[in-house]
Amino acid sequence: MRRGRITGTGMAVPDKVLTNADLERIVDTSDSWIYSRTGIRERRIAEPHESLSTFAIPAARRALEMAGVSGQDVDLVICSTVTPDMPFPATANLIQDRIGARRAASFDLAAGCTGFVYALGVAEQFIESGWARTVLVVGGEMLTKILDWTDRTTCVLFGDGAGAVVLQATEEEGRGIVGTAMHTDGSLADLIQMPGGGSKHPHSAQLWASGLPVIKMRGNETFKIAVRSLAEVSEEALAACGLSCRDVAWFIPHQANRRIIDAVGERLSIPEGRTYVNIERYGNTSAASIPIALDELNRAGKIAAGDVLLFSAFGAGLTWGATVVRW
Ligand code: ACO
Repeated sequence: MRRGRITGTGMAVPDKVLTNADLERIVDTSDSWIYSRTGIRERRIAEPHESLSTFAIPAARRALEMAGVSGQDVDLVICSTVTPDMPFPATANLIQDRIGARRAASFDLAAGCTGFVYALGVAEQFIESGWARTVLVVGGEMLTKILDWTDRTTCVLFGDGAGAVVLQATEEEGRGIVGTAMHTDGSLADLIQMPGGGSKHPHSAQLWASGLPVIKMRGNETFKIAVRSLAEVSEEALAACGLSCRDVAWFIPHQANRRIIDAVGERLSIPEGRTYVNIERYGNTSAASIPIALDELNRAGKIAAGDVLLFSAFGAGLTWGATVVRW
């Protein structure tokens, strides 16, 4: 059977660091509240002149370089994001141009923090069907551009960045993306949303005064659903390929909250030493968090051939999903 194998990873984040101490000067919060409730110490934040493509393009180039493929080899570019450079054209098209992927089709995909897992699931279908042999999947987000900097319940959580992987078709038995699960519950769409800036409330002078074009989140309610859904979808994706949590060498969860990660790890009985956590340095980078974590782990030489990796994510939509990879 043909499957997609991750042959290259890359990431790029802004240079500018925003610490919890910096946030203490912006809203009524404290380093101890943020760290104890979320596990975040600092996050990266894009400058006004920087946008998603500023980071998505270098992340993509690094992944291509590691995979040893050129833009000409790429059949498809998928960029998962809710903060593209602009509503259209897709940021995937800007990446397609800059990496010289002349033959490739490209599109953006929006599934909130689950975006990267969704994009891998979609890419895998194109590979399994034989339509594509090489797919570039980028997860990137500039959530600090759509934050309400007077709302302490959201502005302390998010950071900017991009990560990328190259998926290449392999016929090697049992290798590559071996399991995928994806879910949506649109009835809970209002738990995390940006109500303004679309066709319902288009951009206008009044829109800014209305406070609609920013992230609104009911964090506490989201938290409880996140823990349950992440645990369930992880087990579902593993069961679909005949594996269990005991087989997992590395659990790479979406980095939304340290307490969510710990609670899910506990439910799945995956020890801390096999769970990759970098939320302390980046905060919640949404669709970018898993590919950034994967690239760090990969470049540190900590993933061995044959290792089972579990990616699980949860986010706006509501959406949730998991990917099982045999490296
Ligand atoms: N500093 C100080 N106090 C704060 C802050 C802050 N930054 N934010 C909230 N508080 C206060 C609240 O006002 C509240 O005060 P009160 O008790 O006097 O009313 C108190 O702290 C507790 O608030 P909770 O919301 O109950 O805090 P909680 O422990 O739930 O932590 C958090 C909040 C971090 C947002 C958590 O609920 C969370 O991580 N939720 C999940 C988020 C998530 O996973 N989102 C999905 C991905 S996002 C995406 O898809 C774009």
